[in-house]
Amino acid sequence: MKFIKVKNYEQMSRQAANIISAQVIIKPDSVLGLATGSTPIGTYKQLIKWCQKGDVDFSEVTSVNLDEYVGLDIENDQSYRYFMNTNFFDSINIKKENTYVPNGKADNLEEECANYDAFIKSIGGIDLQLLGIGLDGHIGFNEPADCFEKNTHVVDLHESTIKANARFFESVDDVPKKAVTMGMVSIMQAKKILLIANGKNKEEILNKALFGPITPEIPASILQLHPDITVIFSEE
Ligand code: F6R
Repeated sequence: MKFIKVKNYEQMSRQAANIISAQVIIKPDSVLGLATGSTPIGTYKQLIKWCQKGDVDFSEVTSVNLDEYVGLDIENDQSYRYFMNTNFFDSINIKKENTYVPNGKADNLEEECANYDAFIKSIGGIDLQLLGIGLDGHIGFNEPADCFEKNTHVVDLHESTIKANARFFESVDDVPKKAVTMGMVSIMQAKKILLIANGKNKEEILNKALFGPITPEIPASILQLHPDITVIFSEE
């Protein structure tokens, strides 16, 4: 594991953007696994700048997102599809049809989950997976549980996750209670993983996840078993 501690959010974002753009420059048709949340926004902003300057080209990239709330329309400004469009895809030269986010409005969610995994497999898996970490140690929406969930699945969000995400909604009651999330197989089979975290409040869970016992009670702890993971942490 490569652990990089940086001074502030800007440095974290810049370093993460460097790693992602290096990936795309070396392999223009990379499959990028992407995350939402507040942590990667600066990374996406930096990548947008470089793309608009012509320094990085996303025209051959395919992206697969980690997760989506169940029940939100893609036009809903809290859906993860909306987040990705407005914070990243609309401002770079990626082909929209090559961007994939689980469909949380699918009539048959089980089928949607199975199809999502089959699709990721069919395109050869993920080259570089960008991850954030939740305060309870979740990655994607793989919440603390008795066992690691292998496949893309529907998950009941934990109370702490609902509370943490309430900041994006009018009230805590508006936060969806379920989500579709990629499981551990697609994440762990990514050729490279880039985990970014920022803020003092993430330090404790990050330490537990990266240096404590590997347990499904801290889902991110499974990342210790990945052969090529870079972690960038800013405590500010
Ligand atoms: C979002 C995701 C989540 C977030 C995590 C941290 O797609 O997969 O696991 O990465 O909840 O969120 P922030 O960055 O808002 O602290």
